[in-house]
Amino acid sequence: MHILSRITGALGGVAVLAIAGIALSGGAAADSKEGSVPAKPTFTKDILPIMQKKCQDCHREGGMAPMPLRSYEDVRPWARAIKEKVVSRYMPPWHIDPTVGEYDPDPSLSDAQIATIAKWVDSGAPKGNPSDAPPPRVFPPNNTWVFGEEPDLVVTSAGFEVPATAADQYPKVDVPTGLTEDRYIKWMQVIPEDPTVLHHVLIYALQSEAATGGVRGVKPTQGSNSLLTEYARGNDGDIFANGTAKLLKAGSKLRFSFHYHPNGSKAVNEHARIGFKFFPKGYTPKYLISTKGVSSPASLAIPPGEANARSDAYFRLEEPARLVSFQPHMHYRGKRMALEAILPDGQPQLLTDVAHFVWTWQITYAYKTPPAFPKNTVLHVTSYHDNSAGNRENPDPTAFVGWGDRTVDEMNIGWIDFYYITDQEYADLQKQKDGSPKATVATGSGRQ
Ligand code: HEC
Repeated sequence: MHILSRITGALGGVAVLAIAGIALSGGAAADSKEGSVPAKPTFTKDILPIMQKKCQDCHREGGMAPMPLRSYEDVRPWARAIKEKVVSRYMPPWHIDPTVGEYDPDPSLSDAQIATIAKWVDSGAPKGNPSDAPPPRVFPPNNTWVFGEEPDLVVTSAGFEVPATAADQYPKVDVPTGLTEDRYIKWMQVIPEDPTVLHHVLIYALQSEAATGGVRGVKPTQGSNSLLTEYARGNDGDIFANGTAKLLKAGSKLRFSFHYHPNGSKAVNEHARIGFKFFPKGYTPKYLISTKGVSSPASLAIPPGEANARSDAYFRLEEPARLVSFQPHMHYRGKRMALEAILPDGQPQLLTDVAHFVWTWQITYAYKTPPAFPKNTVLHVTSYHDNSAGNRENPDPTAFVGWGDRTVDEMNIGWIDFYYITDQEYADLQKQKDGSPKATVATGSGRQ
């Protein structure tokens, strides 16, 4: 299940490799971290373990994917498609240039795993010896709270009638939380009534400009109407590392901002619920995580037929800060989005390059070790949209496209989760780094 969970503020050990330079490299191959390629791969010995680890979270009965990949009988008819989707790195969904940055969780396949699958398919997809098969993986029932406990608060949206066939619908529903005191969120998870119609839902906290609640060294950046979480394919929950949290205030409301996509077969009365687990009353986290949508609506002007329309958005860090995660958001014409840091001395560092953006997947890329930046670093989001006929998702290459809510309009939002730290903490993180003279991104962990 962790593949579907955005583990924010991960406590990693290994440094994030920040690659200098604004030039975005192509989707170069990752190094083979995991395993070697067997001479004669079989399903039971070599393929099933990969399916269990990297595919079955979604590809199982009742999962979000269209077909289970549990048994040989399940997998065999899909062998060719599987090879194609893993070689192109479309599956498992993880659409970044794997040579840039380190992430946790990282559900992607290693080069060796991809080569093993390709070799197995090319050699006729043999089953192999049944006794080689690992025991079946056991999954928790669907629609359960995945972080192992019951939530303290569940907020349910009003029902919405989604017809069997219709245009996509974008209702917004406000629901009071009923909270009478400020609480810090440990984890939150959205459970839809019927995942077949819920394309995604953004959940905002409607609350007065967040005070820092005694959290030191931070500015109140978790402003009013701040995004709390998003449920979408590839992202259904957030859990925060010790020392970090998001704040939900007394008297707050939640705004559920839905995107429903009729499933084509039956009408559904859909209502989603979100569960919150709070830190104990009176507990104050050291750091308050803020979510910021870095976008530039005014500069988004995509001419008809343009295959590579670029737009840029910037956000300046007012204090030293650590970056927890990045999630690109675009629509049909979204093609690529990259995040870089421009350090106060002007030096750019590429942090993440979502080189193969797929608009139906809104994936959060959480850094294994949240990189730290000095005050006045500018985070720069570069978006590319493809409005040509060559983009198979494009509903109308003759249209001039600008910013808007509908899927046929566009957006260029880079959602970032980050928290401010003190100058001293930044200096300490810098000291902890093992000496690369050029690296300006502090990568130490464990200071929280
Ligand atoms: C996070 C959930 C998730 C994971 C993990 C995942 N898939 Fe998928 N997969 C989906 C969904 C949803 C679809 C259908 C929508 C789409 O194609 O984007 C899909 C589609 C596919 C298809 C295309 C089916 C078709 O109709 O053509 C193949 C093949 C596939 N997956 C194979 C795999 C393999 C192999 C793995 C593991 C190496 C894997 N997937 C991991 C969710 C997932």
